[in-house]
Amino acid sequence: MKSRGQVVITYGTFDLFHIGHVNLLERARALGDRLIVGVSTDEFNSVKGKRSIFPYEHRARIVEAMKCVDAVFPETDWSQKNKDIERFNASVFVMGHDWQGKFDTEITGCKVVYLPRTEGISTTEIKSLLGSWNVGTVSEIQNGLEFVKSIIEDLRK
Ligand code: CTP
Repeated sequence: MKSRGQVVITYGTFDLFHIGHVNLLERARALGDRLIVGVSTDEFNSVKGKRSIFPYEHRARIVEAMKCVDAVFPETDWSQKNKDIERFNASVFVMGHDWQGKFDTEITGCKVVYLPRTEGISTTEIKSLLGSWNVGTVSEIQNGLEFVKSIIEDLRK
């Protein structure tokens, strides 16, 4: 732990770490004195129907490397949050506003805050963008090969 005081806790997958994640973590940290982050394990992601590009160990190390993050722990199931809040003595529970209202009754003994998401970026969008680049790259290679083939055919004439 880097410091003492009011503890803020948040959760996420944090795959393909991007500016939306940085903003969320910095804003969460600004709500208290210490920030503790539950990073979803690969096994828990498959329960959620998600598959991350980076494995848990990489995602957890990246999040932990942030100056605003004091500690990281594995998020392994849906029901652990109140136990974590007690264990870390957290007084603020933060989620992005895509979860607005979802934790109001479930979370006990802790203030629940939903922070606005950063517009225009998400891991899902980055993944689909990379997917379309792959298709583009494949067709560029195909065009290149066709071109080389036509040169070889011309030389044979
Ligand atoms: N987040 C954010 N702004 C974004 C993307 C994410 O504030 N543009 C927040 C989420 O609300 C969550 C945390 O960052 O509190 C971790 O989000 P995560 O689900 O790991 O990232 P996403 O990029 O939203 O991933 P996905 O597209 O897979 O949902």
